[in-house]
Amino acid sequence: MGKVLLGVSSSIAIYKACELVRELRKSGHEVRVVLSLFSERFISKLTFEALSGNRAYVDWEGDPLLHINLPRWSDVFLIAPCSMNTLSKVALGIGDNLLTTCALSHKGHLLIAPAGNVEMYKNPAVQENLKRLKERGVIVIEPEEGKLLCEEEGQGRLASLERLLDWVEYALRPKPWKDKRVLLTVGATKEFIDRVRFISNLSSGLLGFSLARVFRWYGAQVRVVAGFTTAEEPPEVELTRVVSTQDMRERVRELVDWADVVVMNAAVADYRPLETYAGKIKKGRRLTLELVENPDILLELGREKGNKLLVGFALEEEEGLTEKAKEKLIRKNLDVVVANPLQSMGSGSYRGKVIFREGRVVDVEAENKLRAAECIVQAITEQLL
Ligand code: CTP
Repeated sequence: MGKVLLGVSSSIAIYKACELVRELRKSGHEVRVVLSLFSERFISKLTFEALSGNRAYVDWEGDPLLHINLPRWSDVFLIAPCSMNTLSKVALGIGDNLLTTCALSHKGHLLIAPAGNVEMYKNPAVQENLKRLKERGVIVIEPEEGKLLCEEEGQGRLASLERLLDWVEYALRPKPWKDKRVLLTVGATKEFIDRVRFISNLSSGLLGFSLARVFRWYGAQVRVVAGFTTAEEPPEVELTRVVSTQDMRERVRELVDWADVVVMNAAVADYRPLETYAGKIKKGRRLTLELVENPDILLELGREKGNKLLVGFALEEEEGLTEKAKEKLIRKNLDVVVANPLQSMGSGSYRGKVIFREGRVVDVEAENKLRAAECIVQAITEQLL
């Protein structure tokens, strides 16, 4: 877990920084807060001290080396919310308070999440400074579009908590998957019987979306093709929605040339109704549903695999899980198969096995799917990169 130095500057979005401190700590990080001079007019540093469990700082308070030691202590320096004033000062190398001086002496990952009025944000001076920061390798977490507090519509809202937290995790990870392109399928496909009824399955998409997040944290470019999901979408990832297995197959085939790695996590409907009734089927008679088999997307990919890394999933009864999954790996020509027992579907925690073509089996047990996804990606990284 990381050491996060959080800089807060004067924007009304500062109230969101309080929640951010809580969430960072919930994720296991240690947090220290440094406030710009004016931001204490919005929220006192005492609030941040209580929330972070550490001292918060507005100025040096008798420690002449504070602006060196705070950044040196941190793994990540996140400024959120970052006012246009602080943003421009950091871009130009001006150190006129503790926060901006910390930014000057900081050597590691600097993340800046601007927040403010849309006209201020669009101001050419601010845009030039943003460009400068990006060119220097600073991660700018773009503000979001929407209704602003000043009643204007436009880009200026502080990035969501989910995005801020995700970028912190990103900044804390090494990047072994840099330059690798990962295509992931996620969620359940749906096969319609009539206009309103369908065949599907219990998949929430949580493990798949978590894998997408983790591959991004480790440096990969990620694209997701998602069927039906109930889990929250991963931030900062390109995502296309599809409905049926055939739609998923089409979209995957369009994207497969782009990818170096394909991870077929989707719980694909193996069968579809022979015909889909155009309206709504009325009750009152006996019905027989004739099903035809869907194409096996992964099997097809395995046939034309080339140099791509293919990762499949196998959902099986606990008994004989490893053997059945290994059989799937061989039959579908995969590099890796992740074997999950039936009980794992819909459950919060995770237990499964990562099985490699060479025969190595890595057991994964985790309290949640995000942690499980990280263990799976780490196992694949260790074995195949
Ligand atoms: N899969 C696929 N296309 C299908 C069915 C499955 O691409 N029509 C992929 C899944 O995304 C998963 C893997 O194949 O990565 C295994 O799916 P699973 O349903 O466990 O097994 P099946 O191959 O359908 O075999 P079985 O019927 O024996 O369970």
